Amino acid sequence: MTAQIRTYEGLDDLSRAAADELTAIAKAAVAARGSCSIALSGGSTPKRLFQLLAAQGRGALPWDQIDLWWGDERTVPPDHPDSNYRMTREALIDPLQLSPTRVHRIPAELPDHDAAATAYERELVAALGSPPVFDLVLLGMGPDGHTASLFPGSPALREAKRFVVANPVDSPVAKGKTTRITLTAPALNAARHVRFLVAGADKADSLEQVLEGPPNPIKYPSQLIVNGDVAWLVDRAAAARLRGNP
Ligand code: 6PG
Repeated sequence: MTAQIRTYEGLDDLSRAAADELTAIAKAAVAARGSCSIALSGGSTPKRLFQLLAAQGRGALPWDQIDLWWGDERTVPPDHPDSNYRMTREALIDPLQLSPTRVHRIPAELPDHDAAATAYERELVAALGSPPVFDLVLLGMGPDGHTASLFPGSPALREAKRFVVANPVDSPVAKGKTTRITLTAPALNAARHVRFLVAGADKADSLEQVLEGPPNPIKYPSQLIVNGDVAWLVDRAAAARLRGNP
């Protein structure tokens, strides 16, 4: 499957384009089905997108019909500086005063990480079916080619049935040994639309391998995302090693 790759000057341009795409997808979903479910990515890249969406004000999107989910979460409390939920709450949820009934965070603070994954999977399947079909999945990519919390060589890469798992990881990118709660490839690949947002020169080597290298999803887990409508919104720095990069 040939990936759609769209290159932007920098993170701001990329984020504005992502805001436009999210808006179009959300409005179409609400028009067609009365609701829209979006799985958000974590890390730092999407923060600008969330800030732009918040700056547009509540009226720019049918937020009362949009359900927010997460593609992964760190096993920390929701007010921890590393929490993906906290970043989203500060950049998007609080500024737009989104309804808590539409915000479905991963209970990653639970001491039993498997129970947290099972609880989230149960909530997800009850809302979106089996497999859960998101209208949009936003993904980032780490400098090691991971996406969500599907890290190179980690057990979750081989998960073919479950949609949410607790994934033990040991990676300098994840700040050493930890457990992450993550959606799996079967869940991510069931989405109607998938958009990767990738910015920064530190991603260039992995992006070349993921998009133009030989199939090697254990080493470059972003290659696991193959179904549906997948597009990559990348900045010039991240795209520097791609063939045909202008
Ligand atoms: C996380 C993310 C992760 C992220 C990449 C890129 O919890 O960290 O879900 O998959 O998207 O690591 O992170 P940056 O956007 O910070 O480069």
